[in-house]
Amino acid sequence: MDTSDSAVQLEQRTALKQQAAEHAVGYIESGMVVGLGVGSTAIFAVRRIAHLLRTAQLRDIVGAPCSLQIEAEARRLGIPITTLGDHPLVDVTIDGADEVAPDFSLIKGGGGALLREKIVAQASRREIIVVDEQKLSPLLGTRWAIPVEVIPFGWQSQARFLEALGSQITLRQTNDAPFTTDQGNLILDCNFGPIADPSGLAAQLNNRAGIVEHGLFIGLATDLIVAGSEGIRHLKPGNPIE
Ligand code: A5P
Repeated sequence: MDTSDSAVQLEQRTALKQQAAEHAVGYIESGMVVGLGVGSTAIFAVRRIAHLLRTAQLRDIVGAPCSLQIEAEARRLGIPITTLGDHPLVDVTIDGADEVAPDFSLIKGGGGALLREKIVAQASRREIIVVDEQKLSPLLGTRWAIPVEVIPFGWQSQARFLEALGSQITLRQTNDAPFTTDQGNLILDCNFGPIADPSGLAAQLNNRAGIVEHGLFIGLATDLIVAGSEGIRHLKPGNPIE
């Protein structure tokens, strides 16, 4: 593949992300509390919401951001921001995903915001996941490592534990230093390969002290919007993904 091909592919993929995200914004109504997801797909939803507010096509929206970075961006765009303290129940959240299995289980956390994303998802009546079709996968772990957020104290013990479970670990870095989350924690990207039993693995991760959260999102997506070369598909749990 030459560079121009990959630039074109990137552009096409970006256009699909935008289509999926903007389609999802169609489900937002005036007066709603809206969860603002993180990543290169969800940002298109944030920008669209800001546009609809500016042009008075939506009114009285408050946004519950899933990261400090998206909070800053939403404020910059003029979206009123709230907290789960003021609005513990979110009407609808629009967020991206790194990998999506046929049963709507997800890997998330490519941007490192998995903890706040999961908190907001669990607080949401409706969790709309927006992806381009390349995110679809037969089995979680086929395309993406699972991000695991660990507290800095004793993180090496969690790395050994995760290796013993069968994964290859990479401590996430940024600018030659360990990446830190909005909570000041570290991320271990855990390559398990295709995972036969994501729920069983999630239970093992949930039971380990020092692991704050992991990127397996099981049973949280209520809607999946997939943009592909043949258009947009809106899927609900129970509708198989072909
Ligand atoms: C952020 O922590 C993630 O969960 C993102 O939602 C996910 O990585 C998808 O990001 P993109 O839309 O940039 O692929």
